[in-house]
Amino acid sequence: MSALSSRAAGIEPSRTIAMNQRARDLAAAGRDIVDLTVGEPDFHPPAEVREAARLAIAEGADRYTPVAGEPALREAVSRKLLRDSGLAYPASRVMASCGAKSALSNAMLALCGPGDEVLVPTPAWLSYAEMAKIAGAAPVFEPCSAADGYKLRPERLAAAVTARTRVLVLCSPSNPTGAVYTRAELEALASVLVRFPDVWILSDEVYESIRYVPEVPSPASVAAIADRVVVVGGLSKSHAMTGWRLGFLAGPKAVVDACIAIQGQTTTCASSITQRAGIAALAGDQAPVAAMAAAFRLRRDRAYARLAAIPGFRLAAPDGAFYLFPDVSALFGSEWRGVRIEGSDDFCLYLLEEAGVALVPGSAFGDDACVRMSFAASDAAIDMALDRIEAAVVALGSR
Ligand SMILES: Cc1ncc(COP(=O)(O)O)c(C=O)c1O
Repeated sequence: MSALSSRAAGIEPSRTIAMNQRARDLAAAGRDIVDLTVGEPDFHPPAEVREAARLAIAEGADRYTPVAGEPALREAVSRKLLRDSGLAYPASRVMASCGAKSALSNAMLALCGPGDEVLVPTPAWLSYAEMAKIAGAAPVFEPCSAADGYKLRPERLAAAVTARTRVLVLCSPSNPTGAVYTRAELEALASVLVRFPDVWILSDEVYESIRYVPEVPSPASVAAIADRVVVVGGLSKSHAMTGWRLGFLAGPKAVVDACIAIQGQTTTCASSITQRAGIAALAGDQAPVAAMAAAFRLRRDRAYARLAAIPGFRLAAPDGAFYLFPDVSALFGSEWRGVRIEGSDDFCLYLLEEAGVALVPGSAFGDDACVRMSFAASDAAIDMALDRIEAAVVALGSR
């Protein structure tokens, strides 16, 4: 067989999806598994959104749309960004895409290439690094500590930027840590970035509506850097539409136009049906979005209180998104089936095999001391998982 491209050979498969698959396989084999790996809301999209999709089908919205999206959808995104984030982007500087993931990968292709570096503060969703590699650029990880709230500090940014740095990725609220940058923290980062005018900021704001603090400021609202920020968002998390595949980006006209050119040659456009649903989602009543965020807050409080009480688990309450990211390194060194648990992969395997609870190892996010638990699940599932984790940790201590 002919060889694959070096690009394909260098791509790491998603470890979150791998862990999720393992949990599904065990469940299919009859094991009772509580799966808290994947980050998707367990709600359904609001009724009016589903109705808009039904209507779109009935009315025959069957054709390709403009590459950047239906004009009404671009308008709806433009108004959403102003309403929720105070960002003034005209519709001409907005592009709709097949999920935030597609918006991010289009932007990465538009912003960097061979010889360039993409700075990714970790812990982070590691798709950024793989997207950078697909664009031919080199990801560079900058570890952020729990003591710093897992946020990039200005002095660390200043030390990490090189002549090759073309993109800084920021994700707030963060997957996996739930960290949210305050306005003062973004301004401090901006005061460093003004010294490096060639660096773009790719701002992943897909969890913006799921927050437990009053404000999630966008880097694009910081005047000193606003003209080089590309804002990415989507409806997967805010409107529980993961499978519908709708995201968007907004930014400088030249970048958006480049993304439209790339999208025109790759995916063409987001689904016409989903776009019509997206207009209803963004322009309609936002009460269901707030109701979902409120439900996540209750689950966060409940899951955080219990997890923090388990010996060996160290964590802070997340300010946004729907993940807990405890440091469990105090439990490393314990033995299970005659083998020492050395890191987050071993620990997750132990929980999966012994307790029937599937979490994602922190190694998948660049921090092997931690594990990620999604609380986008029912109260019953969360309680069951926590009961089992508690028992498994006690069992580990007594081995
Ligand atoms: C940080 C982050 N960005 C982007 C995405 C992708 O979102 P979408 O489903 O809109 O492609 C995810 C999905 O898990 C995510 O966690």
